[in-house]
Amino acid sequence: MTHPTAAAVVSFRGVHKRYASHDGGGTVALQDIHLDVAPGEFVTVVGPSGCGKSTLLRILAGIERLGEGEVWVEGARSAGPHPSIGVVFQAPVLLPWRNVLDNVLVPADIRRTPRARARQRALELLDMVGLADFATRYPAELSGGMQQRVGIARALINSPSLLLMDEPFGALDAMTREHMNLQLLALQARLGTTVMLVTHSIPEAVFLGRRVVVMTPRPGRITRVYDVALDAPRDLSVINTPRFGDYVAAIRADLQASGGLD
Ligand SMILES: Nc1ncnc2c1ncn2[C@@H]1O[C@H](COP(=O)(O)OP(=O)(O)OP(=O)(O)O)[C@@H](O)[C@H]1O
Ligand SMILES: [Mg+2]
Repeated sequence: MTHPTAAAVVSFRGVHKRYASHDGGGTVALQDIHLDVAPGEFVTVVGPSGCGKSTLLRILAGIERLGEGEVWVEGARSAGPHPSIGVVFQAPVLLPWRNVLDNVLVPADIRRTPRARARQRALELLDMVGLADFATRYPAELSGGMQQRVGIARALINSPSLLLMDEPFGALDAMTREHMNLQLLALQARLGTTVMLVTHSIPEAVFLGRRVVVMTPRPGRITRVYDVALDAPRDLSVINTPRFGDYVAAIRADLQASGGLD
């Protein structure tokens, strides 16, 4: 058994995942995945549709079974949902009968955290995502971007050390998306949470990621990992720099070479 680097929060070791299908065939979704993520890192994963990005996050979140290989979380073999992991999906799926504050509190209620303490934390998180004035509103009264921010606050309520995000901003318009990207970077810098975020957008992957993991079309393999050497803290002006453009072009070329843009 190969033990992961001691410093890693997450280690994928030779992960292989095959889904069985009704006709007796199957789909190899992931092949030979090796990846270490260090504490406090922001890693983005980019790749074509169907290459296994969601599968990768779901395995890490403990909500999808591993095929072969090993996944380590905080120094222990992963076995099912982990209390140190928060997850944000593309759609926030809020409970319509609970107000914003009570939606953020759902994971704390499940864990039976004392209400007063959890409530204080929820209000702090709502403030951090710019929703301090909306705590008593209901999901139907919020825009898509605001609902997604509630989903982010909810994922952070139990103070996870690792936040997994699967195309969290995919449904948002370009302007809201840029704003959310900035807010997420600020939040991550403040909390120090390790983040692994999946996106279809190459510029978004470069803007957010300290490292960008590029995957190939099915069966998903990691074809390259980029260290993104852009100044921190990042602001939107970085998007217009030649260096940013170089990363985007290189990743696009990788995807093209592997047939990921066909
Ligand atoms: N529960 C499942 N049962 C069978 N096959 C599945 C299942 N989930 C995913 N797959 C298959 O595994 C492959 C990878 O799927 P996955 O959802 O991980 O891709 P993805 O990279 O997230 O795609 P997208 O960018 O479109 O969200 C696909 O071919 C898909 O058909
Ligand atoms: Mg997906």
